[in-house]
Amino acid sequence: MTLNLTPDELLSTTRAVRKRLDLTRPVPRELIEECVDLAVQAPTGRNRQRWHFLVVTEPRQRRAVADIFLRAQSQATGQPLTERDLWRMNYHPGSTDRVFDGLRHLAANIHRVPAFVIPAVEGRTDQAPVTVQAGTWGSILPAVWSFMLAARARGLGTVWTTAQGPLERELAQVLGVPYEKVMLAAFVPLAFTIGTDFKPAPRVPRKEVLHWDRW
Ligand SMILES: Cc1cc2nc3c(=O)[nH]c(=O)nc-3n(C[C@H](O)[C@H](O)[C@H](O)COP(=O)(O)O)c2cc1C
Repeated sequence: MTLNLTPDELLSTTRAVRKRLDLTRPVPRELIEECVDLAVQAPTGRNRQRWHFLVVTEPRQRRAVADIFLRAQSQATGQPLTERDLWRMNYHPGSTDRVFDGLRHLAANIHRVPAFVIPAVEGRTDQAPVTVQAGTWGSILPAVWSFMLAARARGLGTVWTTAQGPLERELAQVLGVPYEKVMLAAFVPLAFTIGTDFKPAPRVPRKEVLHWDRW
């Protein structure tokens, strides 16, 4: 059963869900399998399909992975923020506060999330040139987003996180992933959503991002 959403509605209402994850309801395996079947329709360079999806639902394993999530989030560092980033983040007042509020809520409840999806891609690019990076990440991230869209269509909520990053080696070990050959690409909490109505989010205007013929 999927929600009655048009393609445009699906694309514009698949939100980062943190506070509206239903922590009381397990996610049936078949639904996750359907999402993976759709995710692997995404493009990959030379059709290599080096993707993998690690799904964690077993309570003990979930606890171990949630522990890593919490420790990783406290260590996360991204690219430094620029003036322009700050302008974009504050374009819609309150939106950044809402994200941080959501982050705190997710951290406080991470052990209750019924499923985690950790997509992975064969081939490490730690030292690789940008073209190789682009090919590798470009061959997994579209599939992850497709997974998230397919989840939304099934009444499931997801939130993209990079919590796999800071403690990737430890997480790989817990999951039995051969770290030397495989990169963990994201860390996606998954649950049914509380209610299914989600709205398009305010974004910076198109004129700020659309460039025609020249930057
Ligand atoms: C690369 C990337 C990293 C992100 N990292 C986190 C994260 O660590 N924790 C989290 O709760 N959300 C994370 N998010 C979700 C963003 O906060 C979210 O996509 C953004 O605020 C827009 O939310 P919206 O689509 O619901 O409007 C991440 C998203 C992306 C694409």
